Amino acid sequence: MDSFLIRGGTRLKGRIEISGSKNSALPIMAACLLADGKTTLKGVPRLSDIDSMCKLIGELGCHVYRHEPTDRVNPDLPPLNGPLDIEVTDEKMCEARYDIVKTMRASICVLGPLLAKRGKAIVSIPGGCAIGDRPVDLHVRGLQKLGAEFRTENGNIVGEIRGRLKGCRLYLGGAQGPTVLGTINVICAAALAEGETVLVGAACEPEVVDCAELLIKMGAKIKGHGTPEIRIEGVDKLTGAEHRIIPDRIECGTFLIAAALTNGELELKNCNLDHLIAVVDRLEDVGVKISRDNGTIFVSSARRLNTVEMTTQPYPGFPTDLQAQLMALLCLADGMSVITERIFPDRFLHVGELNRMGARVRKEGPTAIIQGVKEMQGASVMASDLRASAALVLAGLVARGQTRIDRVYHIDRGYEKIEQKLAAVGAEIERVKEK
Ligand code: EPU
Repeated sequence: MDSFLIRGGTRLKGRIEISGSKNSALPIMAACLLADGKTTLKGVPRLSDIDSMCKLIGELGCHVYRHEPTDRVNPDLPPLNGPLDIEVTDEKMCEARYDIVKTMRASICVLGPLLAKRGKAIVSIPGGCAIGDRPVDLHVRGLQKLGAEFRTENGNIVGEIRGRLKGCRLYLGGAQGPTVLGTINVICAAALAEGETVLVGAACEPEVVDCAELLIKMGAKIKGHGTPEIRIEGVDKLTGAEHRIIPDRIECGTFLIAAALTNGELELKNCNLDHLIAVVDRLEDVGVKISRDNGTIFVSSARRLNTVEMTTQPYPGFPTDLQAQLMALLCLADGMSVITERIFPDRFLHVGELNRMGARVRKEGPTAIIQGVKEMQGASVMASDLRASAALVLAGLVARGQTRIDRVYHIDRGYEKIEQKLAAVGAEIERVKEK
């Protein structure tokens, strides 16, 4: 278990390249189970969650091959990740084992593709995790409406279909709104179902759109992705295609906040600011200056940070995956801010650790009240989940003295080379390898 040592107080300045989106790449890799022939994915980040998904689809009969990195025109920049080829070579296996599912909840994404293509799926039931309960009832309900039958057996969801899935009109919303991976599971299954599926209450996240775009390249007939009502006309067969994964909006948002916290000036390459409209809205209210030129974002910030109120919401609202990082910023704002978490109401493990660094955050149910302080101090803290850990890195960048973050494998799940990217723009951060 590696740690990060961060010496706070340096101003970040320079250029950072945003990686491809983890949350887009994971379900897209699972969607490759639907296709005949080879799919080539570009922009897949190098992360431990991606390695887990490679292992999972490998066990499910896919040949997965990562090409060598390609050199860039600009020799000052590191080489680009090589594309990832995925081709199904054996369709016998239908099981996602507990060993893999427990390390990566996105394993649930194989449920829809396996049912639609192989007629059977056994997926270990993902338990709760650090950010709260993570039920999969909506995934199951959506697939049931398409004709799949489910039972629970020894901790597994076992799904089977007789003949072929049948399209229908179905509603997929839940108590906390739409489900991102549930929407993708149903789209994948409906793509090979008989007849038309109308999915009402669908998630509108860019990651859903990205997956639908790949499926369309494979031959699927999908309309309305990116809106709450998606229409899918089932086809008999999908064929491998080539696709570039969208930039990671959460990584981009994290670096926007890093610039704001350190009073820095960053140029972020390979981003889509349209995917961050609610984040930009909140950050501008805090006093952060953000402008764009094609795919590059320029961010700088005033010394004085204003307070804001923010509630996490489904897309296009403020993403839950940036809640912890925004909190780290607001810890240093001039007064009291309020954050309400509506997607995962228990996603507040960072609060205690930020307070250990001198922040003043009080939690009341799904709401956190943040009283800004003049400065935070370095401390030894523990990474608990991916985004909470990112918030600790951000706080460490600006805290007085040294911060040690243990268990950074949580960060490695979702941020590609974060310490290298930050060090390249002036941060004093190093990885201490486990002995
Ligand atoms: N929900 C249900 N039943 C379900 C599914 C979801 O009640 O069957 C509830 C959840 O408990 C939650 C809400 O619906 O309250 C939304 O959850 P959603 O299903 O949208 O989450 P997810 O698809 O499992 C993805 C991302 C998460 C991100 C959420 C919300 C991936 C691999 N994961 O999860 O990313 O927080 O959408 O945007 O794409 C992260 O990257 O750190 C991360 C946790």
